[in-house]
Amino acid sequence: MCGIVGYIGERNALPVLINGLKRLEYRGYDSAGVAVLGENLQIRKCKGKVTDLEKHLDKSLQSGTVGIGHTRWATHGEPNDVNAHPHESHHGKFVIIHNGIIENYSRLRDRLIERDVKFKSETDTEVLANLIEFIYEKSEVGAELAVRLALSKVIGAYGLVVMCKDEPDKLIAARKGSPLVIGVGNEEYFLASDATPIVEYTKSVIYLNDGDVAIIRKEQLILKTLKNDEQGPTVQQLNIDIGEIDKGGYEHFMLKEIFEQPKSINDTFRGRVRSEESEIHLGGLYNVLPKLIEAERIIIIGCGTSWHAGLVGEYLFEDLARISVEVEYASEFRYRNPIINHDDVVIAISQSGETADTLAAIRLAKERGAMVLGICNVVGSSIPRETDAGVYTHAGPEIGVASTKAFTCQVTVLAMMAIMISRKKGLITDERYRDIIREFTEIPGKIEKILRHNHDIKKVAELFQNATNSLYLGRGYLFPVALEGALKLKEISYIHAEGYPAAEMKHGPIALIDTKMPVVVVATKDSSYEKIVSNIQEVKARNGVVIAVVTEGDTVIKNMADHVFEIPQVDNIFAALLSVVPLQLFSYYIAVMRGCNVDQPRNLAKSVTVE
Ligand code: AGP
Ligand code: GLU
Repeated sequence: MCGIVGYIGERNALPVLINGLKRLEYRGYDSAGVAVLGENLQIRKCKGKVTDLEKHLDKSLQSGTVGIGHTRWATHGEPNDVNAHPHESHHGKFVIIHNGIIENYSRLRDRLIERDVKFKSETDTEVLANLIEFIYEKSEVGAELAVRLALSKVIGAYGLVVMCKDEPDKLIAARKGSPLVIGVGNEEYFLASDATPIVEYTKSVIYLNDGDVAIIRKEQLILKTLKNDEQGPTVQQLNIDIGEIDKGGYEHFMLKEIFEQPKSINDTFRGRVRSEESEIHLGGLYNVLPKLIEAERIIIIGCGTSWHAGLVGEYLFEDLARISVEVEYASEFRYRNPIINHDDVVIAISQSGETADTLAAIRLAKERGAMVLGICNVVGSSIPRETDAGVYTHAGPEIGVASTKAFTCQVTVLAMMAIMISRKKGLITDERYRDIIREFTEIPGKIEKILRHNHDIKKVAELFQNATNSLYLGRGYLFPVALEGALKLKEISYIHAEGYPAAEMKHGPIALIDTKMPVVVVATKDSSYEKIVSNIQEVKARNGVVIAVVTEGDTVIKNMADHVFEIPQVDNIFAALLSVVPLQLFSYYIAVMRGCNVDQPRNLAKSVTVE
């Protein structure tokens, strides 16, 4: 999520900062800003790109040799000039840049406001700046201790760099959950979210660990823990060159984003699912909860992958929350003069928050009196601004056109909503709830396990890179996964692929079975397992070729199918989150072997803002 740079040494800081921010642009962002300490502290920041920021730079920033820079991916407060970083504390003593999410920012902000601290922005980051200053002034401690004391009160994730006007000879950096790297030069230090902006200046780096605090002067770096225990920094040598790390070491953004899913799901959980607590917190829905819980019907609208996530949502809401659900293509819904009742709740799902058909469907639903909620990944985009309430997926920027981590984060939000409603309606026991939450929090680790077998999936992909057609089958929660797997294959490899409910095969698609066409069957252990085994037998009886996604240890299907992708045992309600991952990788590897432009497939756009 977004980017941080910092510099302290003999050079002019500004060019180092701007160059560094441009190196981090591949991470995706919506705003940019810098702060440079010369004769005084100058801050320039704005919504938009680094090139927009450059239009605001003047000579007053040219002389400073200490500075920080930031590209923001908004999580709290829409993208605008005020919410952009760096953030200055109320009395102007501290300036901070931050990557991550301060979960308890709201409570901290309230307590600071009670003490007459004033705020300019909507961000969680500004709360941290003011908390540091409040402690600094009230406790009359130094900047470093004020930072450590403030961070000890914070719940959440941060990678941050702080400048203090009273102590201009240092930068203070800290990390917990959001990466920070320090480049070690000759009487100069560089800071960044990853090595990209650093490697051209030095290959000697220190990777901060969670809980680390670094006090950096141009001639000395001190590394401590939050508890003030000094520790010797471990300096490593980068063995990469600048060309490799623009995508974090991955060949394509899509592969990077597939591998980011454990982190993005954890970030979507953060502050919302706490295994030690007895309920799920979705702050964006607090004001609409009664209407949502009492809803007679939920209409889910979306396009493409977001529509597939909506289908998983249908199974979740009906299975757990016992609310009737309809899932609609936004493009159809908006034109078919649908019946929309006042007590309907419409949920619009969109990664970009800008899809034209989805926006139009939202406006129609609102005109007809329905309450409309949004599930979006881009803070401040059009859909969150036009819906009555909603929940952000904290997937971070999704650059690859083919949606991967956004899908699993959308399903994560839908699952949180369904479980929360089910709990509030008293439909699940305390014990079942605890089991569900435990399973839920184990999902990222189980995805990590699947990702570790990516080379096995690549080997199977090699065998099917020249396929011309394919069929994807699934039942129940796994039927939408079959659709999503088929969409992934066709949109990046240009091989025709069709997803079907497995039982529908005998109503037509079975005529397609031959000895060449791969039939991908999502067949993890669930209530319809025996049925899907029969479907596989039907394909094999016609000399078809079966690739099955199975629960690890499943020997029955393993002995029937031509190839299997194993996933860890998981509760059926979460099966979509795991079973989609092998299909994402399968499509990715086939597309790469076919020489396709994986991140920008032909004819496709990341956000379809036109009809
Ligand atoms: C999915 O891989 C595609 N990129 C596409 O179907 C996408 O899901 C669809 O255009 C909807 O986009 P949205 O989620 O940004 O609204
Ligand atoms: N949560 C902070 C904000 O919304 C930082 C987001 C980021 O990581 O860029 O401004």
